[in-house]
Amino acid sequence: MIRTIAVNTGGGDAPGLNAVIRAVAISSHWRGWRVLGIRHGYRGLIEGSPDGVVELDRNAVRGITHLGGTILGSTNRGDPFNYPVERGGELVPMDVSDDVVRRVRELGIDALVAIGGDGSIRLAARLLGKGLPRVIAVPKTIDNDLPGTDVTFGFDTAVATAVDALDKVHTTAQAHERVMVVEVMGRYAGWIALHAGIAGGADVILIPEIEFDVERVCEKILRREARGRHFSIVVAAEGARPRGGQMRFKRARDEFAEAQLGGIAEQVAHDIEQRIHKETRSLVLGHLQRGGSPVMTDRLLALRLGCAATRFLAETDRSGLVAVRHNEIELVPLSDGTKHLRTVPFDSNVLQTGRDLGLCFGDEPEGTFLPTTLPPTR
Ligand code: F6P
Repeated sequence: MIRTIAVNTGGGDAPGLNAVIRAVAISSHWRGWRVLGIRHGYRGLIEGSPDGVVELDRNAVRGITHLGGTILGSTNRGDPFNYPVERGGELVPMDVSDDVVRRVRELGIDALVAIGGDGSIRLAARLLGKGLPRVIAVPKTIDNDLPGTDVTFGFDTAVATAVDALDKVHTTAQAHERVMVVEVMGRYAGWIALHAGIAGGADVILIPEIEFDVERVCEKILRREARGRHFSIVVAAEGARPRGGQMRFKRARDEFAEAQLGGIAEQVAHDIEQRIHKETRSLVLGHLQRGGSPVMTDRLLALRLGCAATRFLAETDRSGLVAVRHNEIELVPLSDGTKHLRTVPFDSNVLQTGRDLGLCFGDEPEGTFLPTTLPPTR
């Protein structure tokens, strides 16, 4: 029997987090439950500040569906099993997971709705193993690469932001007859680059799944030149890498957080200019893609997932991940959300669309058609 639940948001933010929080809170209030919000992942339970846990009553979640960010705050340095604690002026890792479980019990929390990516789902599963009563995870990432679910909210908004940027970059590239290389997010998966690049009319798309050869990229640009198209747009996912080469990092991984990727657009722009002596500029869209109001599809998905999380709490006694499968929402094991990341498959219809449109992916020469996966005609 549930009386009180808690909600938190962990990892990088994604447009739609507030819509999930609102949906969980309102659908729980109707069932007579109390809803608490834990600030900044698990930090609100660990550091004992008076506003670390907040009441998510009707008022607290009013008018937030359209807002980017998260009213609860987030962090990607908040792993309770490896928590940064200050000792003698230095941050040292400590396992404070017992404190989290104890606080949850003290607060009378019967279930946690953890909204986050693969890292947050893994943490929730470990905390469940240590004694959290129940956990429902809600999958989130703009990268759209979480296993176990067909889609994640935040992706469509990030793609819309990138497409808008590509439209703008087009006009200036054309005016100056330049090549523009635009770096978008996508650490291990090229979904944002692929979707934004195709919808935004890019000429070259570089994704982590396909190692690229800059010669192929240059050939494409020169072929366009020969056809009188004196500008080109290249979209590069931050995790794209040249054949036999490495990803580009701005900051190395430390003991509390992932490495920060960045710099591939600059490198590609430099390599193009060196080879074909055509003026080339680069830009990084970065966190712009994580901000702003969620688009309609993300809002709706976020609200559906939030309400489904509450329904599964009310109607089952299980823990799990609320996942989208063939446009239905199912409760699947938490472990489904922590398997291998969902990268772009080579037979992806969207990838094939790009090839059919003559886009360059840095691997095959233009006009080389790889076998498609069209079903045989009956
Ligand atoms: O996981 C989403 C993501 O947007 C990645 O594409 C990117 O590498 C990462 O977050 C950047 O996160 P931050 O700069 O917040 O550490």
